[in-house]
Amino acid sequence: MNQLFPRAGGISKAVIPAAGLGTRFLPATKATPKEMLPVVDKPAIQYVVEEAVAAGLSDVLMITGRSKRALEDHFDRNYELEEALTRKGDEARLSRVQESSDLATMHYVRQGDPRGLGHAVLCAAPHVGDQPFAVLLGDDLIDPRDPLLARMVEIQEREGGSVVALMEVEPSQIHLYGCAAVEATADGDVVRVTDLVEKPEPSEAPSNYAVIGRYVLDPAVFDILRETEPGRGGEIQLTDALQKLASDEKLGGPVHGVVFKGRRYDTGDRGDYLRAIVRLACEREDLGPDFRTWLRRYVNEEM
Ligand code: UTP
Repeated sequence: MNQLFPRAGGISKAVIPAAGLGTRFLPATKATPKEMLPVVDKPAIQYVVEEAVAAGLSDVLMITGRSKRALEDHFDRNYELEEALTRKGDEARLSRVQESSDLATMHYVRQGDPRGLGHAVLCAAPHVGDQPFAVLLGDDLIDPRDPLLARMVEIQEREGGSVVALMEVEPSQIHLYGCAAVEATADGDVVRVTDLVEKPEPSEAPSNYAVIGRYVLDPAVFDILRETEPGRGGEIQLTDALQKLASDEKLGGPVHGVVFKGRRYDTGDRGDYLRAIVRLACEREDLGPDFRTWLRRYVNEEM
């Protein structure tokens, strides 16, 4: 079990906000958190917890909201199911069922009202304490073959302060993201973040570097979040707090960005969710060959 081998020193805690309303995915998300929607045969959130563990962060705090039962149950034992599979001698499925409960040391805190991502992160303050920590958005899926978080942790440990994940997007798409003004550094994949704007119009965007859902944060962010007024959409925005950190290094050290060029899916967006499923299913050893054959035929005949 990975929790027996936590990272030596440094960053060990991951916070996963999963309390949003998921309105883009209604009605599927009326009674089920969007993070529980399956991507092939695992809920999206399991990929995210696996990513944290793969980067050495096996102490995971999930920020939950409505319908939190499903999230908690997924990472807990299910003795009835395990017994039934044992009786049947179905070892393969038994171990798949046990994977999620053996993965990490899970903690939960409830965000009463979904008052924004910044507010969700602030709910983690008592658990995190005075150490840098990672934040992984529960609906943001980074392809397991394109590791990002370990590099972010490395940069934070070298440079101090906070680190955000950035991805270059089409200028027409920048209004969907937080956007960073950046300066180059000696590392090709690392930039210094000098300013951040939440969901800017393309004409006002300082760059096409979009902030995606991975962060390694200095705990100074909590004090800033406590004083951050609701911003865009009436929500307490994490981007607003990061903007303060980026504009005044004395508050909590510098803000760097690691530029990600791998595969990433926003599973809270229906189109991206479908793309994630098709791509990951095609590449699976067990399902891929048959699925690819069917998909090729479907595309040729129907498109
Ligand atoms: P989104 O911006 O995707 O918002 O949140 P949302 O409400 O979940 O989804 P839509 O836009 O209505 O479809 C980004 C991340 O922040 C979490 C979400 O769960 C998601 O992981 N979040 C957002 C919270 O935990 N609490 C909040 O108050 C808002």
